[in-house]
Amino acid sequence: MLKLMIIGIGGAMGQSVARAALADSEITLAAGIDISADTRAECPVFLDPLEYSGSVDVVIDFSSPKALPPILRYCTTKKVPLVMATTGHSEEQLALLRELSQEVPVFITGNLSLGINLLVHLANAAAKVLFPGGKFDAEILEAHHRRKVDAPSKTALMLRDAVASGYAEVTGEEPQSVYSRESRRIARPAAEIGISSIRGGTIVGEHEVIFAGTDEVIKLSHSATSRDVFAEGAVRAARFLAGKAPGMYGMQELLSDIL
Ligand SMILES: NC(=O)c1ccc[n+]([C@@H]2O[C@H](COP(=O)([O-])OP(=O)(O)OC[C@H]3O[C@@H](n4cnc5c(N)ncnc54)[C@H](O)[C@@H]3O)[C@@H](O)[C@H]2O)c1
Repeated sequence: MLKLMIIGIGGAMGQSVARAALADSEITLAAGIDISADTRAECPVFLDPLEYSGSVDVVIDFSSPKALPPILRYCTTKKVPLVMATTGHSEEQLALLRELSQEVPVFITGNLSLGINLLVHLANAAAKVLFPGGKFDAEILEAHHRRKVDAPSKTALMLRDAVASGYAEVTGEEPQSVYSRESRRIARPAAEIGISSIRGGTIVGEHEVIFAGTDEVIKLSHSATSRDVFAEGAVRAARFLAGKAPGMYGMQELLSDIL
């Protein structure tokens, strides 16, 4: 039985992880942490992790970078592994997490979707197969809901990096990222990756990598219909982390364990 503590249990992701944990017969939701009094959690909720005296196997954090000091204190004192899902930490905070990883295993990733990370892996593999010979061009398309303010998405940039590193490995050249073609009047050079963003409605997240070749087109795509995929990924990461040696881990290590 894996005992979880969820930091930010009252938030959208915290609630989603709690639902995933409650639905899993091999997981116990030991405690939740939140600064909000209204969490509707089905486990004891505290303001500070050290207020909980029971045992915990893994801490999952989906809250805010501001929650980091008490989390570091708890994981160091109790020697509990940490799945750090919260994004937006400063360089100093990331250094503190690396320091923590010398004492306990720490899993950190900006994207916990197993599907997206598999897509990144496949895009890199496809680039290495398709780019020698100069017959393929890569384009990345992403679509998100109307409220998303940043573009392109971080996931589109992860895909760009995967395709670019595959391209560089087989051609020895770094491809250029191109976000807009409206001001250019030139034929498409081979050493570039086009990235296009679409915003509208309530689209949760669509990503597609297109390898357009001479006489054939290969498309790799991922479509998310709910943010629950991140909660599933967090629970999977917690399982992966339990019993591991101290160190920094991420989705690449989790995927390598499966592949
Ligand atoms: N890594 C991933 O794959 C992934 C996926 C989705 C979201 N996220 C990240 O997870 C975080 C949370 O996202 P969300 O959509 O659930 O946000 P949210 O605003 O819905 O929930 C955050 C929760 O944390 C609580 N909280 C805030 N500060 C706290 C503190 N100091 N101590 C304890 N609790 C605190 C809030 O009260 C709230 O209940 C964000 O950083 C988001 O970017 C990461």
